[in-house]
Amino acid sequence: MDIIKLKLQAKQSITVLTGAGISAESGVPTFRGSDGLWKNFQPEQLATLEAFQADPCLVWEWYDWRRKLIEPIKPNPAHYALVEIEAQTEQFTLITQNIDGLHHKAGSQNVLEIHGNIWKVQCTKCQCLSHNSEVPIQILPTCRQCGGLLRPKVVWFGETLPAKELEAAQFAATHCSLMFIIGTSGLVQPAASLGVAGKQAGAYVVEINIEQTPLSNIADETRIGKASDILTDLLS
Ligand code: OAD
Repeated sequence: MDIIKLKLQAKQSITVLTGAGISAESGVPTFRGSDGLWKNFQPEQLATLEAFQADPCLVWEWYDWRRKLIEPIKPNPAHYALVEIEAQTEQFTLITQNIDGLHHKAGSQNVLEIHGNIWKVQCTKCQCLSHNSEVPIQILPTCRQCGGLLRPKVVWFGETLPAKELEAAQFAATHCSLMFIIGTSGLVQPAASLGVAGKQAGAYVVEINIEQTPLSNIADETRIGKASDILTDLLS
């Protein structure tokens, strides 16, 4: 029998790391695919504090475009398969690099959003955090408390990850017996290093992707295919 199915049935502790590929089948553009481009800008040019400081209108227009794109989008069978696995597992942590909120929308409970969430905003003056689901969002959005400029509560290039989430993610990666790495190019640190940490701590690491990635070298198995097909098959 399939070793992964056996491990799933044994209800072992499971940690999952997801990336943009798991949301691709819902219609959310991946970062490094050509569909992720907006007005010919690469995400790396817009998702930085420097870009925001230089031209907050431009950066907010880009996030407004992405929020419009994401708002009507529904989770796909891969998101729901992870909800099912969580329900069957005693110790389960889902670490996601995605900021689209689709894991929560699907019903996943123990989710660590290590790159933030596109529906959260933070005041650049008083730092207060709030939820904001306005679509379209007013450009430029301001804080209700102090009038300061709001920014998306997402991690930009050059910024550090939220310490609490990262610590919890590192703990989950190093305290599981089975680790799935799903739909990530494995190019962005420290997220990608979580897979390596899981492997070094003794987890059986399974990568699911439509192509090989740098993380394929450390995975015990790489299953090539769409996340929804492979996860649905594992649960069948
Ligand atoms: P990428 O766009 O870099 O990679 C998406 C991965 O998903 C690729 O390896 C694809 O082969 C794979 N993929 C696409 N469709 C798939 C499918 N149906 N099933 C399985 N895999 C599929 O996205 P991430 O790795 O998530 O960070 O990018 C990591 C981070 O880089 C993002 O969180 C973001 C970005 O810059 C920040 O914004 C801080």
